[in-house]
Amino acid sequence: MIDAIKPDVETAELTEQEIRTFSFDHRQSTLLHYFAEALAAIGGPQAPGAKSKASLAATELKRSFSKDQCELLGAYSDGLVCVLIFEGLQKITDVSPPNELPDLTSLENRYDVLCLAARNQILLKLVDNSAFAYDMDNEGKLVRLVANFKGGGLIKINAEPEINELSSHSGLALGPHTEAPYWCAVSAKDGHSPSPSSLILSALWNPSLEPTRVIPLPPILEKIGVTHCLALTTDSFQFTRSDSFVSGKGEDGRNVSILEFDDKVGFAARFNSYRFSVNDNVSTFVKTAYTALCLGVGEATPIEYTLTQESAMAINNIRALHCRDVIKDNRRVLVRIFGLSKFSSPLVISEDPLLLQG
Ligand SMILES: [Fe+2]
Repeated sequence: MIDAIKPDVETAELTEQEIRTFSFDHRQSTLLHYFAEALAAIGGPQAPGAKSKASLAATELKRSFSKDQCELLGAYSDGLVCVLIFEGLQKITDVSPPNELPDLTSLENRYDVLCLAARNQILLKLVDNSAFAYDMDNEGKLVRLVANFKGGGLIKINAEPEINELSSHSGLALGPHTEAPYWCAVSAKDGHSPSPSSLILSALWNPSLEPTRVIPLPPILEKIGVTHCLALTTDSFQFTRSDSFVSGKGEDGRNVSILEFDDKVGFAARFNSYRFSVNDNVSTFVKTAYTALCLGVGEATPIEYTLTQESAMAINNIRALHCRDVIKDNRRVLVRIFGLSKFSSPLVISEDPLLLQG
């Protein structure tokens, strides 16, 4: 179910290598389901002990994988792939969504949500990513439900506010972005942990089959060329604070780069089409490069994937942008977790559950 909206011949091949699918066979998905249920039973990813349980489950699962399957996981783990889609997963529940979603807390505590979150945590571990949360984001919780709780969707919710938050808790369309924070991408800097290495998404409900869109960055960077890419490595950009941050925490940022060279993964990116801008006082070279990037992103062909309970999508957050349209069906609920790769060096506040200083 991978669809390119308007195939661009030049970049199609590059894009294809960046989007990979890992298919579970029946026996493997049964085993994964068993481990996910066991993890949900202790409270899911937020519970102390979930981290090591997910790790053990991943080790056990890997024993059942073929050489090709292990190679695919290795490629993502090494940071060489933009997206890894997991297919052939077991359905978690047959319960249909209610017409109006219940409040966030009661949704978060549902057993099926904990199962999906636990499964995501194990899938992340298969690619050597550890589930974590930031202290200043999503109330410090590892699991985030992506749904229209705060209005802005095509159809109004019961308590539609006048101003809609620009975050995954609203129904608004979200332009191409990587996940915040945007201070650095791989190694901690000036008291800030790097941005998430990965995000993984699955769907509890997606009744109208609304897709998630991903834009791999390598073809865009190829297209804009070396001089522009170099200009994007300068600390010439600023960003506005994210609406998902804990009230009073997190802040606007100045003098950050969009691209950086990294010894372990090659390049790493941070960008948000609705939060970033270029500093006023920079050279024309930098301003032109920024315009070229924005144009390249705007012209790129996103890959569309429709998440269900039977699939999950890990997005390499330093190599790909993601975006979505306005939410059309307010019953849509995705379950998201951030992952920290083996290359990332963050500022750790607590180990279990893993909490980082944002
Ligand atoms: Fe996002």
